[in-house]
Amino acid sequence: MPIIFEESTRCFHLSNDRISYILRLAAGAYPLHLYWGRRVRTVSDDLLSRLCPYTDESFSLHETPLDLLPQECPVMGGGDLREGMLAVRHGDGTAALDLRYAGHTILDGKPALPGLPCARGEGAQTLLLTLRDAQSGLTVELAHTIYADTDIVARSARIVNGGTSPLVLERALSACVDFEKADFSLLTLSGAWARERQIATRPLVQGDQGVSTTRGASSVQTSPFLALLAPGANETQGDVYAMALCYSGSFAASVQVDQHGMARAQLGIQPVDFAWTLEPGASFQTPEAYLCYSPEGLGGMSRQLHTLVHAHITTGPYARTNRPLLINNWEATYFGFDEEKLLSLAKTAHDVGIDLFVLDDGWFGHRDSDNSSLGDWVDDLRKLPHGLSGLSEKIHALGMKFGLWVEPEMISPDSDLYRAHPDWCIHAGNRMRIESRHQLVLDLSRQDVRDYIVDAISAALRRGNVDYVKWDMNRNINMWGSEALPAARQKELGHRYILGLYDIMRRVIAQFPDVLFESCAGGGGRFDLGLMCLMPQAWCSDDTDAWMRCRIQYATSLVFPPSTMGAHVSAVPNHQTGRISPLETRAAVAMGGTYGYELDLGKLPREELETIARLNERVKAMQTVLLYGTFYRLRSPFEGNECAFMSVSPDRREAVVTHVHALAQPNTKPALLRLAGLDPALDYRDEETGRVYGGDELMYHGIAPKLPLGDYTATQFHLLAL
Ligand code: GLA
Repeated sequence: MPIIFEESTRCFHLSNDRISYILRLAAGAYPLHLYWGRRVRTVSDDLLSRLCPYTDESFSLHETPLDLLPQECPVMGGGDLREGMLAVRHGDGTAALDLRYAGHTILDGKPALPGLPCARGEGAQTLLLTLRDAQSGLTVELAHTIYADTDIVARSARIVNGGTSPLVLERALSACVDFEKADFSLLTLSGAWARERQIATRPLVQGDQGVSTTRGASSVQTSPFLALLAPGANETQGDVYAMALCYSGSFAASVQVDQHGMARAQLGIQPVDFAWTLEPGASFQTPEAYLCYSPEGLGGMSRQLHTLVHAHITTGPYARTNRPLLINNWEATYFGFDEEKLLSLAKTAHDVGIDLFVLDDGWFGHRDSDNSSLGDWVDDLRKLPHGLSGLSEKIHALGMKFGLWVEPEMISPDSDLYRAHPDWCIHAGNRMRIESRHQLVLDLSRQDVRDYIVDAISAALRRGNVDYVKWDMNRNINMWGSEALPAARQKELGHRYILGLYDIMRRVIAQFPDVLFESCAGGGGRFDLGLMCLMPQAWCSDDTDAWMRCRIQYATSLVFPPSTMGAHVSAVPNHQTGRISPLETRAAVAMGGTYGYELDLGKLPREELETIARLNERVKAMQTVLLYGTFYRLRSPFEGNECAFMSVSPDRREAVVTHVHALAQPNTKPALLRLAGLDPALDYRDEETGRVYGGDELMYHGIAPKLPLGDYTATQFHLLAL
């Protein structure tokens, strides 16, 4: 049984073959966090007497020193003075809470969360622990799910107003873990547009630290994820404790180190500018957080998270299958295209083995630049005289799939939609509406707005008979306000926007069950597990430069597998950096994600097109292992002049290794690259060179990557067991 309740010790023990996670009810009432790590049979430690040696054995509920103890669901306004998961304002204005055990259930599987995306629960078991504040009647149902196939504990909380007067939830985080010590390094992913998810590490110190956003999106600046590394932990070894949130809106991920050197890690909806009124009988569901423990360093952590994503998060017809090789016209034409130009690009793409043609921004309204037409999802007949349907028919007639870019959540002030419904965007009364990229954000908390979006977008996708959709979102929210919400509920807008987003995505996706959906947000600005539950891949970054992408994809792979990362070969000089890197390198890096192109093939010399045709055959041959193989990072582009990573098939008979060398240096020899995850007893042939190596040799001695002359070169090994 993965979850056991030991009556004698009042312990809940969640375990799989490798890990244990243990809670204990102190004084029969308060859930304490007792243990999280490698699997143990039991933990007999008496936290109360060890951590609070001065406590009289006959302590009562009045004296339980919660402030000194590691807790499972700490609240504000109780005996614990640290920041907690929950804060509530009662009808009389007070904020005290005393949550105590009120019962529990253990279920097979995992209940879905109302309105929110979440992981599925095949092979899992769930503990539902009910806590109650007797005075107000507020109850909290804590859900803990443990998986058998991955070392993840999923946590969420449902807060119910079981009292007779309304109350306001002022803070509702998804998970908290109290560590008895704080000698960890904190790793987070931070960045900017075109520099998403850069690795940042620092030692914990007393006080508060972490990452958060108030932008209404998980954002390019931060990611809803943190990892704590024990001393000595690195890529391949040591204890790592990570938390990731299944949510696409503003979040906070924090670690608070207290006066006694205990570290409290918490993750959930950003409490700043959040409040939620609960009428009697009403409930609030927090998003889900995933807690991952790895004794095998960051690499082990990533492999557990990748298993979670592939086995329990991604869904739809493409979640576990190969993806079509695509060409997107954005960097080839930007807004300057017509049907003829698109068809000529598609034809060349088809000739070199590309499967899917994606029409990006600029096909609707009169959108010749980014300053108009969002919201008017009608075909621009100047550019597409036969409309989307005519273009799509011709693309399909070539034998290619057809895909379309949309940005459903936005409205341009220069649009018929805005002229008809100036109140439909998020805005604060008569205050100035601050545009970004010349656009405003539709108020997804409103049912009428959501219905319009679902109808307009579905009609366009139907007209285009699409096989693929790129769902973009190109700005964050400011000047918050909704005409549809009363004054007392304006702080609900951020979360209501995200619930509205999930609603419209679900309704559109349900109408197109065979379509491949890729999310995007001004590059990788909503690369989170919430959206990954709905769309199995996401555009990783608007930065398509090969070396910059090495960094972005390397860091993204801490949480997400290659099957989720949109990655394209683009033109040189690169449009974001001006850098020139060889075609083979751009391709090798794009093979670290869902492979595609984003350049004008018509401008390439014939030899390059022939190379592209060969590369496409190569990608198709290796795609299953590239996307779904067990992933190992071998060299970090954050630490030097090289980047290397590899994927290994589940039976360990196939592997693809990619090595990228940034700046050439004269008179140097390549450092051997030690591979990982192979079968030491097998021999492998490199399909490129025909050379045969032992699995043991490749892992324990290493292989020498080629270092051709020039900057930004790449070597790939495609290893097949003999
Ligand atoms: C965003 C996306 C790009 C492209 C443009 C179109 O920036 O990230 O890939 O689709 O929008 O406007």
